[in-house]
Amino acid sequence: MKTDLQGKAVLVTGASSGIGRATAVAYGAEGARVAITYHTREAGARETARLVTEAGGTPLVVRYDLADEQSVRDAVGRVAEEWGGIDVLVGNAVVWGEAIPRPGKPVPLFEDVPAEQWREVLRTTVDALFHTLQQVLPVMRGRPWGRIVLIGAGLADTGKPGAGAYGAGKSALYGLVRSLAWELGPEGILVNMVVPGQTLTETVTAHVPAPFLEEKGRSLPSGRMSVPEDVANAVVFLGSAANGNTNGETLRVTGGA
Ligand SMILES: NC(=O)c1ccc[n+]([C@@H]2O[C@H](COP(=O)([O-])OP(=O)(O)OC[C@H]3O[C@@H](n4cnc5c(N)ncnc54)[C@H](OP(=O)(O)O)[C@@H]3O)[C@@H](O)[C@H]2O)c1
Repeated sequence: MKTDLQGKAVLVTGASSGIGRATAVAYGAEGARVAITYHTREAGARETARLVTEAGGTPLVVRYDLADEQSVRDAVGRVAEEWGGIDVLVGNAVVWGEAIPRPGKPVPLFEDVPAEQWREVLRTTVDALFHTLQQVLPVMRGRPWGRIVLIGAGLADTGKPGAGAYGAGKSALYGLVRSLAWELGPEGILVNMVVPGQTLTETVTAHVPAPFLEEKGRSLPSGRMSVPEDVANAVVFLGSAANGNTNGETLRVTGGA
C-alpha cells in the first residue's frame, strides 16, 4: 500500500496531545512534513514535534484558536507560506464543552444551558471548520492530490445527557463532508470523516475512573477500548494516496460499539 506522503504538507489541528499527537506522529513515520497546532499547551506541541522528527517527519509548530478567525487565518497562512501549500488537512482540534465526562457532576436541565455556552461549542466545532476550510482550500487546489479528514465523535450517534451542543456540532460534520465530497472530488480532493468511540487519550483517562474504562472495554465487540494510534491509522489511510476513491464516507473506530 503506497501512501505517497513523503514530503507532503500535512496540517493536523489539535496535535498537542491525544489523537492529534498520534496522528501527527503517524504522518511523520510516512516521511511527511507535519504542522502541529496547539491552543494552550505549546510544550505539548513541542513534544509532538520531537516525536514527529524521531519518526522520520519534519514538524512545524503553530498556534491555532478555534474561537478566533484571525488565529485560524494566521495558522493556515503560516503553514502555506512555509511549505508552499497544504496537501492534507486533519480537522481534529476540539473544545469539549460539557461533553467531557464529569463523574459526580449533575447534568443541567437542557433549558438551563446558557445560550453563550451552546454557541461557543457550535462556533468552535462548526464555524471554525468553515473558516479553516476557506483558508485551506485555495492552497490545496491544483496540487497532485488532496485529502481532508474531519474527526467526528461516536457520541453524535449514541448521545449522552448534557452533551447536546457537542453532539449537534459533530453531527453537522456528516452533512459538511457529504457536500464537500461532491464539490472537491472532481479536483482530486477526497473528504472523509473518522469517528472515534471513547478513546484512551489523556483527557479521557484524567476524567473517567479506570475501572469504568476497563469494564467498558470488556463490553465492546473487540473487547478493548481504542487507543489514539488506532484512530491515527484510520486517519492516515483516508488522508493519503492509499485512499484511492473513498469519498464522503465515515470510518468508525469504536471497537464495534
Ligand atoms: N478521546 C475520545 O474519547 C474521543 C471520542 C470521540 C471523538 N473524539 C474526538 O477526537 C478529537 C481529539 O480528541 P482527544 O481526546 O485526542 O483530545 P485532547 O487530547 O483533549 O486534545 C484536544 C486538542 O484540541 C486543542 N484545543 C482545545 N481548545 C482549542 C481551541 N480553542 N482552539 C484550538 N485548539 C484547541 C487542544 O490544544 P491545547 O491542549 O494546546 O490547548 C488539543 O490539542 C476531538 O475532535 C474529539 O472530539 C475523541
